[in-house]
Amino acid sequence: MDTEISPPWPGEIGPILLSEDQIRQRVAQLGAQISQDYAGKDLVVIGVLKGVIFFMADLLRAVTVPVTVDFLAISRYGPTEQTHGVVNLTKDLNEPLAGRHVLFVEDIIDTGFTTHYLTRTLLLREPASLNLCILLNRPRWRIIEVKPTYVGFEIPDDYVVGYGLDYKERYRNLPYIARFEPKA
Ligand code: IMP
Ligand code: MG
Repeated sequence: MDTEISPPWPGEIGPILLSEDQIRQRVAQLGAQISQDYAGKDLVVIGVLKGVIFFMADLLRAVTVPVTVDFLAISRYGPTEQTHGVVNLTKDLNEPLAGRHVLFVEDIIDTGFTTHYLTRTLLLREPASLNLCILLNRPRWRIIEVKPTYVGFEIPDDYVVGYGLDYKERYRNLPYIARFEPKA
């Protein structure tokens, strides 16, 4: 971990957990691993909007096998803001998956509900294979077990923002990942 730096958002953005350099190095490793594992295969890479966009853009440029790219978008409904439960597809894929090798890329697994639901949805389309690639894994609040094949980083309990991850749609554009510290 880097030494703690306080960016200029007093009261909301806490210490940097993962610096730009750390992210860049890890994403390069993941890209190399994926390129090796999928050598000679026809790969479809699928991401979930919007949290995944930065990770996806960097990861894809580190992948050297031919790929096609597609996106899903979702919204979540439930009794509270941090709720889990109902996931609603607001944008479906443009391409069929039947018989293809699919790499499903997500920003973070927290409780596991979102990934579990979306993985099930993708499996119904009968891909030849389905693997999961996650930038951040936070096992602390896991409710449903999901098994990612590729994990960028394991992170501790706290909510994080940056590099695509938001708090109420803000802070996605931070180039690093920092702890979110809500104003009292
Ligand atoms: P899960 O269904 O509880 O696993 O939640 C996964 C989704 O919640 C992610 O795709 C994110 O959109 C969001 N999420 C969970 N934890 C964080 C966080 O620390 N920062 C930003 N978004 C988060
Ligand atoms: Mg979000």
